Amino acid sequence: MSYEINGTNFPQAPRAGQCLRTFLRELGQFGVKKGCDAGDCGACTVLVDGEPVHSCLIPAFRAEGRAITTIEGLGGDDGAHPMQQAFLDAQGFQCGFCTAGMILTCASLNQAQRTDLGAALKGNICRCTGYRAIEDAINGKSNVEESVEAGGAFGRSLPAPAGPDVVRGTARYTFDTEVDGLLHIKLLRSPHAHARIVAIDKSAAMAVAGVQAILTHEDAPSVLISTARHEKDWMDPEDTRILDDVVRFIGQKVAAVVAESEGAAEEACRRLKVDYEILPALIDPEQAMMPGAPLVHPHRTTANRVADARRNLVAEIHGEFGDVAAALATSAVTFDATFHSHRVQHAALETHGGLAWLDVSGVLNVRTSTQVPFLTRRALSDIFGLSLDKVRVFCERVGGGFGGKQEMFVEDILALAALKTGRPVKLELTREEQFIATSTRHPMRVHIKAGADANGKLTALQLDVLSNTGAYGNHGPSVMFHAVAESIAVYNCPNKRVDGHVVYTNTVPAGAFRGYGLPQTVIAVEAAIDELARQLGISPYDMRRRNIVRPGDPMLSPPESEYDDVFYGSYGLDQCIDLVERAMQADHPLPELSADWLTGDGVALTMIDTVPPAGHIADAMIALNDNGGFDLTVGTAEFGNGTSTVHRQIAATILATTVDRIRLLQSDTAHGGHDTGAYGSTGIFVAGKATQAAAMQLAAELRAAAAGAWLCDVGSCALEGEFVVSGVRRMSFAELAKLARETGRPLAALGNSEGTPRSVGFNVQGFRVAVNKGTGEVRILRSVQAADAGVVANPMQCRGQVEGGVAQAIGAALYEEMVIDAEGRVTNPKFRDYHLPSFADLPRTEVLFAETSDTIGPLGAKSMSESPYNPVAAALGNAIADATGIRFTAPPFKPDRLFPALHEKFGDQLPR
Ligand code: FES
Ligand code: FES
Repeated sequence: MSYEINGTNFPQAPRAGQCLRTFLRELGQFGVKKGCDAGDCGACTVLVDGEPVHSCLIPAFRAEGRAITTIEGLGGDDGAHPMQQAFLDAQGFQCGFCTAGMILTCASLNQAQRTDLGAALKGNICRCTGYRAIEDAINGKSNVEESVEAGGAFGRSLPAPAGPDVVRGTARYTFDTEVDGLLHIKLLRSPHAHARIVAIDKSAAMAVAGVQAILTHEDAPSVLISTARHEKDWMDPEDTRILDDVVRFIGQKVAAVVAESEGAAEEACRRLKVDYEILPALIDPEQAMMPGAPLVHPHRTTANRVADARRNLVAEIHGEFGDVAAALATSAVTFDATFHSHRVQHAALETHGGLAWLDVSGVLNVRTSTQVPFLTRRALSDIFGLSLDKVRVFCERVGGGFGGKQEMFVEDILALAALKTGRPVKLELTREEQFIATSTRHPMRVHIKAGADANGKLTALQLDVLSNTGAYGNHGPSVMFHAVAESIAVYNCPNKRVDGHVVYTNTVPAGAFRGYGLPQTVIAVEAAIDELARQLGISPYDMRRRNIVRPGDPMLSPPESEYDDVFYGSYGLDQCIDLVERAMQADHPLPELSADWLTGDGVALTMIDTVPPAGHIADAMIALNDNGGFDLTVGTAEFGNGTSTVHRQIAATILATTVDRIRLLQSDTAHGGHDTGAYGSTGIFVAGKATQAAAMQLAAELRAAAAGAWLCDVGSCALEGEFVVSGVRRMSFAELAKLARETGRPLAALGNSEGTPRSVGFNVQGFRVAVNKGTGEVRILRSVQAADAGVVANPMQCRGQVEGGVAQAIGAALYEEMVIDAEGRVTNPKFRDYHLPSFADLPRTEVLFAETSDTIGPLGAKSMSESPYNPVAAALGNAIADATGIRFTAPPFKPDRLFPALHEKFGDQLPR
């Protein structure tokens, strides 16, 4: 047997039953990725005799004697293939995990296929981009600015530094490495929603050849933890263990088998015999606080930061300004409705997983796919009683996060296994495990009451929210607090009331998800604004203008926050409303639609604090290196959010140089410093400020060093390109570095940001939709989002963040839904049954930016990564209501959800 891969013959033979994907990866072709192992995502695409195939579906032996091309071989000896170059020019990627497969598919398209990209690309999913940048690449459109003058990087559309590696397939993700002597971990998971583990019989499993260890709750530290990672541990309840003797949802890990091969570990899992005592399970959150309901965590107390375990209550929030009931009673118009938001999954294309090993110094190394390496190190240090310098956590490029990797789902088991066996270990979750055993968005029931006077001024806003946090409370309290904060703080109203309850159920835990609770409440608040406007005959845009906060207005939601560090660093909400209204009213061609289609417009707005409360810390270090370039070290991770590009832009701008002179080192605790993590849209606003501070300090030191050498006034020295200049004198950075080394004073500087004070960002979304009266199908005819991102650090990337956020939110609003059955089981744990939006499902979104400059953010910038998601479902709900006259309150707005009410209203108008 021999296999021709990228023009080279390999004599190796695949194992019996091995798929082509794993075979190619074992031969070092790491550009072949895994997103699903089920033929649904295309991340594993390779060319076989020039035809794109999903290598996870093909038995490897069928490729014998055929020409296999992976992304690494696409360009041949002549450098990049034109399609690789096109993706680079258009920057048709964010995290890049889909990119290899996407490029291979695109490179194989003929002219006919290019005319129907929806059909041609239906086998390749991108979770990040919303596909517009990919379409640009296919059409040969360049989006990057090639040459930018020294000192002019900030605000320009510069390409991602990792781009060449991403398109060539040489960017390294978590598992793209070979490790000698690696052991593999597989997890046995609970088939029961609630049960006590009475005994685990390991004997048959230990007899499987290659099994090295089987870890159960008896091996795990007894310490209680939360999987959530926050700078302040008090934000989350301590209610779980690495391995527990009680399982509280179907899919919870029961035991970890560590073996020489994945196959041996899987076989051992099958042979483990677990004796369970079945406990009553609580599935319905509405029953959680009722008398007699099964208790999910009966033994937790307020000492564990669980508000009332006897009512399954993790946290609650209550507060009122003014008198809402009295205001509603005297309002000219009122709105009262209950909304249900559903369970959706992040679906980052790279699943959770990592590698762990002990190095020769006894340091525990964990290479993992995380948004929070520093907080994960701290947790491992605490759990295993290791000093911080004995734990290193780092990530290579991360294949998407969206909040789902602000958790510790695998690193604890990896550490336990590495410490127990003394061998390097690997754990890579399957797509099914992602769905059943990581985290989801919090499903919420939101009851809203709202009133307005005859002039359209809000008189009352009331939210009563029930949040289902699932079996564990990771992020439960903070998501609730966020959900009821900016959603109503963005409106002036003299009477506001909030009641929120976060309850446990025996279902898969919810956690951090892009938007962090706001989308679930915004859909209700923005519906109320529209419905009040409709009753009063006021346009939805004017209704919002009459009520939004303006600079100087307090941004209030009851109960008042103990954190009073949020300011209007800049304000562009008014501009965003104007931009969307103008764009929606401009002439725009509509497709031909039959009389069965109803059309309507919808708008929604959101405000977001640019940093989470209670501190978000980032350190940055920058040093002049011997070549006259700079080494910039930051802790924040890159997972498609574009921060690695922007950090270089900030540093290059302040040092009056070009980005190619800035080498970025990131997301590795071994580099020193601290970084709370890449969440809450802080990669630029917080970590970027740390970079700004470090660069400013170093710039001052460069000038001072030159002035010292020239014995001149430091005020006369300036940085220019790669020189310090003073009058006619010029000294290159490299000469300065040499001088500094000779004097024993290396030129380096530290910068720090503590995430306070905070600013606010704004997003306004407009949609025009068509709804089919007969089928309930919703088509998006127009999508516009205006964003207030302050000074836009990188317009191309920021546009991509907005497009990607809108795309992900459209998926959640129209298609995606995790279905949980009466036993608490996720019944659709596959991409195929979950319906991630593909190219054909998504409209192009027009992205507009307000012109503002933030006085708090770095160089005037604000965050813009999660907030574009927030107004989307609300705007779609408003557009569908405008089209049909029916207020639908439970996304996803799928045909089968819409059909009954449409049929009741329009049934007699439809042909029989
Ligand atoms: S990994 Fe093969 S299609 Fe998803
Ligand atoms: S860039 Fe496509 S999945 Fe991240």
